[in-house]
Amino acid sequence: MDILVVGTGYVGTTTALVLAEMGWNVTGLDSDQIKLNLLLQGRIPFYEEGLEDLLEKHLQSDKINFTSITDQAIKHNDVIFICVGTPSRSDGNADLQYVKQVAMDIGRYMNSYKLIVIKSTVPVGTQEMVEQWIRSAQSHVSPFDVASNPEFLREGKALSDALYPDRIIIGTDSDRAAELLKELYQTMQCPVVVTAPKTAELIKYAANAFLVTKISYINELSRLCDKLGVNVKEVAHGIGLDPRIGSSFLRAGIGYGGSCFPKDVSALLRLANDQDTPLTLLKQAVSVNQTQYLHLLEKARTRIGAFNGKKISILGLAFKPDTDDIREAPAIRIIQKLLSERALISVHDPIAKLPQELIHESVTSFSSPEQALEGADAVFLCTEWKTYLSIDWVHIKQIMNQPNLFDGRNLLNAKVMEGMGYYYQGVGYP
Ligand code: UDX
Repeated sequence: MDILVVGTGYVGTTTALVLAEMGWNVTGLDSDQIKLNLLLQGRIPFYEEGLEDLLEKHLQSDKINFTSITDQAIKHNDVIFICVGTPSRSDGNADLQYVKQVAMDIGRYMNSYKLIVIKSTVPVGTQEMVEQWIRSAQSHVSPFDVASNPEFLREGKALSDALYPDRIIIGTDSDRAAELLKELYQTMQCPVVVTAPKTAELIKYAANAFLVTKISYINELSRLCDKLGVNVKEVAHGIGLDPRIGSSFLRAGIGYGGSCFPKDVSALLRLANDQDTPLTLLKQAVSVNQTQYLHLLEKARTRIGAFNGKKISILGLAFKPDTDDIREAPAIRIIQKLLSERALISVHDPIAKLPQELIHESVTSFSSPEQALEGADAVFLCTEWKTYLSIDWVHIKQIMNQPNLFDGRNLLNAKVMEGMGYYYQGVGYP
């Protein structure tokens, strides 16, 4: 089987590299020539550890190639993975224009049986639409199957998640497609679930929505912990030992962000509304997330008074560590709020950059945490980068104007920081 991966973004590039690592011949197709040139030079156009080494290895072994020539790419490959973006539209629905474009191209250029595999996160019912789009673009009848095969990889851990998944979900009504995909994934040591296309599509949304609910549950509980003087970390540990609950995704903080959770949850909420079955619990989980960062800001206000004219440091911009992704990052919301209250802001992140909308005379970006913390009246730790554990906090206390530390990720040890003379507040972490 020769494999084509359409879209060389985050999911597409990772998928292509992992398939090459499994021994398949893979071609990545994209219309963005700049991106393709980077990839052909062995460079990954985004930050994700481990991918560049794998790219170099498979460019050398000739297992991977990249092209922008759509018709040849479709003709010469048997299996076509659709990995193009499905951004949120303003109404909350996923925008399927790129998926449609790929489907129409496949219909137009296919010359033999093709298995089309949808990896992009798409609304329930998309597999059926892709089938129709392909059929409508065909000038002569040629057999094909369309399967749904959602991806569950996390940014920052993309390679290990894609190489060692917990499960493989295959949504298809075709035995031929199911057998081909099982063969393709035969080296993977994990359960393979073959189900109906719509079920597979819903599994992806339901998984992300469940994780979001879990995070918002512990975040809301952290507010009560603050009032009661109880440590939410200990509560999470105590409940997480129950295997029915599980210990992961119970880290309280200033809220989730990223490209997947917010986008997928809003698409699922929209879908549920369209079906006259609103998901009220999930809606609440989103609203808890939207207000979670404000609680830490209020703690800071209580301590230092109005933010106007105060120098506030922000450690961490990315929505989580090990990525440069700042989409929907709580740090950005905190900076926007502080700016609206006329604070002077200094920022550090090991990789992520300030977005254009935050380039402002009152916001300065520094290449070291020490520089960002000098003269600060308060610091908000917004991303749990490991490097913030090894800062010389004793020295920092001397160079800050006031040693007020608001730890939005409960990264540091409260007792240790207080021992150094800091005023320390975490999230549900007295
Ligand atoms: C997520 C899903 O985990 C992945 O399966 C899916 O394919 C894409 O969306 P990702 O967004 O890369 O992956 O990151 P993840 O590690 O899941 O974290 C998402 C957000 O939740 C981050 O902002 C993180 O800080 C936050 N989070 C996570 C918490 O606040 N508490 C936790 O306990 C766990």
